[in-house]
Amino acid sequence: MSVKAEIARRRTFGIVSHPDAGKTTLTEKLLLFGGAIQEAGAVKSNKIKKGATSDFMEIERQRGISVATSVLAFEYKGTKINILDTPGHKDFAEDTFRTLTAVDSVIVVIDVAKGVEEQTEKLVEVCRMRNIPIIVFVNKLDREGKDAFELLDEIEQKLKLSVTPLSFPIGMGYDFKGIYNIWEKNINLFSGDSRKNIEETIEISDLQDTVLDELIGAKAANTLREELELVQGVYPDFDKEAYLAGKQQPVFFGSALNSFGVRELLDCFVAIAPTPRPKQSEERLVHPNEKDFSGFVFKIHANMDPKHRDRLAFIKIVSGVFERNTPYLHVRHNKKLKFSSPNAFFAERKQIVDISYPGDIVGLHDTGNFKIGDTLTSGEEIHYKGIPSFSPEHFRYINNADPMKTKQLNKGIDQLMDEGVAQLFTLELNGRKVIGTVGALQYEVIQYRLEHEYGAKCTYEPLNVYKACWVEPEDPKGEEFKEFLRVKQRFMAKDKRNQLVFLADSAFSLQMTQQKYPSVKMHFVSEFDVA
Ligand code: G4P
Repeated sequence: MSVKAEIARRRTFGIVSHPDAGKTTLTEKLLLFGGAIQEAGAVKSNKIKKGATSDFMEIERQRGISVATSVLAFEYKGTKINILDTPGHKDFAEDTFRTLTAVDSVIVVIDVAKGVEEQTEKLVEVCRMRNIPIIVFVNKLDREGKDAFELLDEIEQKLKLSVTPLSFPIGMGYDFKGIYNIWEKNINLFSGDSRKNIEETIEISDLQDTVLDELIGAKAANTLREELELVQGVYPDFDKEAYLAGKQQPVFFGSALNSFGVRELLDCFVAIAPTPRPKQSEERLVHPNEKDFSGFVFKIHANMDPKHRDRLAFIKIVSGVFERNTPYLHVRHNKKLKFSSPNAFFAERKQIVDISYPGDIVGLHDTGNFKIGDTLTSGEEIHYKGIPSFSPEHFRYINNADPMKTKQLNKGIDQLMDEGVAQLFTLELNGRKVIGTVGALQYEVIQYRLEHEYGAKCTYEPLNVYKACWVEPEDPKGEEFKEFLRVKQRFMAKDKRNQLVFLADSAFSLQMTQQKYPSVKMHFVSEFDVA
C-alpha cells in the first residue's frame, strides 16, 4: 500500500467524558467490534480504582497499565483506528489536555441522566479552541434520563456546540425501544440483551410506512414521527465540512453497556472522521503527506519498575514515515538519535515496528532526552507548538526533607516536571519552589516517586493561590508594568520555561489587579502566543 493510502486509512482520536459517563465501556465495545479483544472486561480491569487517594499500589498499577492502554489500535473495515486513552480520573486531567494535542478528532460521551458535567465542559472547551471535530455519544439510554431535546439543548448551551442528531432514541429507560438511525435511515430495535452483539436492524426509508407501527406500536411510531419532524425543523442537516471544521457536531444515542448504538457510531465515525490533519509549527504548516518525517512528544511515561529509570516517550507522527534504526534530529538538543525498538500499540500488547505512518503513535525508550512538546524530524528544524499548560488548581510549597539529597531532589523534580506530572513555579522573591497540580492526588504521587525513584524526600507546605496567570505586558519597558512588578513582587514567579507568572491569591485580587494594570494581560494558559 502506498504511503498516501496508509495515511488516508488512519483515524486517530480520543474519547473524552466526565468520569463514569461510560468512556471505558464504550472504548471496550469499539475494540470488540473491531475484533481487537475477545471479551468485555479487558479494558475495564485497567481502570484506576475510583476515589483512590493514598493507595500507592494503585497509583503504581495505574501508571504501569496506562502505558499499555495509552494507545489502542485496531483495524475496522479497512481503516486503522488509533484510540488515545485519556485518563478518566480528574487528578490526571492535565494528561488528558495534552493527549488532545495528538488527536485528529474526539468522541464525547455524555450520561443521559446526568447531562453535561464539569469535566466534559473543560475538555470540550479545549477541543473547541483547537477546532477539533467532535462527535457526541449520549450513553445509558437503557436508563431513565433527560428528554432528548432537553439534552440536545443543554449540550448546545453548556458546551457551546452546534449539534445535529444523527440518531434518535425511541423511548427511554424501561420504555426504551430502540434507535432511529437518521444517518443510515433504519431502525435498531433494543432487545435488552447485553450479550447480544448483533442488533436487529430494519431499513425504514419512509417514516410513514406502517411497518413502523407494527414494529414499535402506533403510539411510539407517531411520537417518533413527530419528534423526527421537530429534529428536521430545528437542527441543520449534517454537513461534513462543518463537522471537519469543528463547526457542527453530530450526536448519537445508545447504550455502551448493551453494545447498543455502538456499531452505528463506529460506522459513521470511519465514514466521516478526519484522516491525520496538518499541524502548525512555529515555522510553517506541516502536511501529513510530506516526504520528510516529523513528529512530537505529547506524553512521557515512567517505567513501572523503579530500578529501570528509562521512560517511554509517546510520539505522534505528523508527516513522512518513521523508520526503525534511522537517525532523526532531536530539534531541541540539535542531535541525531536512532531508535532500535520503537513500539506500536495494539489493543492488548505492544510490539516493535519497523515503519509507522502519520496518525500513528510510537513509543520510544528514553533515558531522559525527551520533554513534552519536543520535536523529532528527518533534519528540518521544526518546532511544534501547542502543548499548553493550564493554570493548576492546587498549589503547595515543596521543601527538601533531607538536605543530603538536594541534588537528587532537584533532578527528580526536574524529570517529573518534564513528564508533565505537575507544574513547577519558582518564586522571584526568594527562589522557593511551588508545585501546582490539577488534583491533590498528584502530590502523593510526586512524594512517592521522588522517594522511590530518586531517593529524595520532600514535604509540602500550604500556599494560598487561586490561579496562575501567565503575564504579557503590552509595554515591557513601560511604567505600568514596572509598577506592577514592584507592587506584586511577592506573587511573581517563573515557570519551567522561564515565563513570568502572577500567582493571584484570590479571584478578587486578580480582578483588582486586572483593573489597576489594564496593559498587563493575564492568560490562564501558558501558550497564549499560539492559536
Ligand atoms: P468511565 O470510563 O467514563 O469512568 O465510565 P465506565 O465505562 O467505567 O462506566 C461507568 C459505569 O457506568 C459502569 O458501572 C458501567 O458499567 C456503567 N455503564 C456504562 N455504559 C452504560 C450503559 O449504557 N447503561 C448503563 N445502565 N450503565 C452503563 P459501574 O457500576 O461503575 O461499574 P461496573 O461495576 O459495571 O464495572
